[in-house]
Amino acid sequence: MAYTQDELKQQVAKAAVEYVKEGIIGVGTGSTANFFIEELAKVKHKIEGAVASSEATAQRLRAHGIEVFDLNNIDGMDIYVDGADEITEHLHMLKGGGGALTREKIVAAVARQFICICDETKYVPTLGKFPLPVEVLPMARSYVARELVKLGGQPALRNFTTDNGNVIIDVHGLNITDPVAMEAKINQIVGVVTNGLFAARPANVLLLATADGVKTYK
Ligand code: A5P
Repeated sequence: MAYTQDELKQQVAKAAVEYVKEGIIGVGTGSTANFFIEELAKVKHKIEGAVASSEATAQRLRAHGIEVFDLNNIDGMDIYVDGADEITEHLHMLKGGGGALTREKIVAAVARQFICICDETKYVPTLGKFPLPVEVLPMARSYVARELVKLGGQPALRNFTTDNGNVIIDVHGLNITDPVAMEAKINQIVGVVTNGLFAARPANVLLLATADGVKTYK
């Protein structure tokens, strides 16, 4: 049976709720994460609350009656659930299409397990077809763009301000064969806050919605 992309996102969001036990849950940003919030709201009696990876997610969680905690006021969390723009068989991800990459990376770093929820269109052999988002301090944007050209990319400034008051440069044309090295290299450019490669800390579990049901990769 053929499902729409939204139906696949909904199915994978439901599957992720199986991982919700108790305590505080880290919640990502984007359309798939939004489906997860709908499902989380149905089991909110089980949890203490959530940490949000963006202002938009925090607002949505509160609208569902889920308490949102400041990351600095909690000891840790078992799981962080979020989507991705691309993910490989090694569970390396490219994220930040929604511009929330820095907070996503911070919350993911604190969580014991990253549960990535995606529909099958996101599963790719190599990262980089989706333009790589890089969050940059505004005064450094031209310098960083020139450095990104040296790495082989074509930078494009997004008309967007992040929750942290910074800009996003989307880097086109990168064929990212070594995501761990590329993540580190871009982070070393002065003025870069972070980039959308989640390779040094990949996902622990991928729940992938396919036409044949939700598949689990670890
Ligand atoms: C937000 O900044 C992103 O990292 C999202 O997690 C990613 O873009 C996936 O979003 P969708 O679920 O909307 O495709």
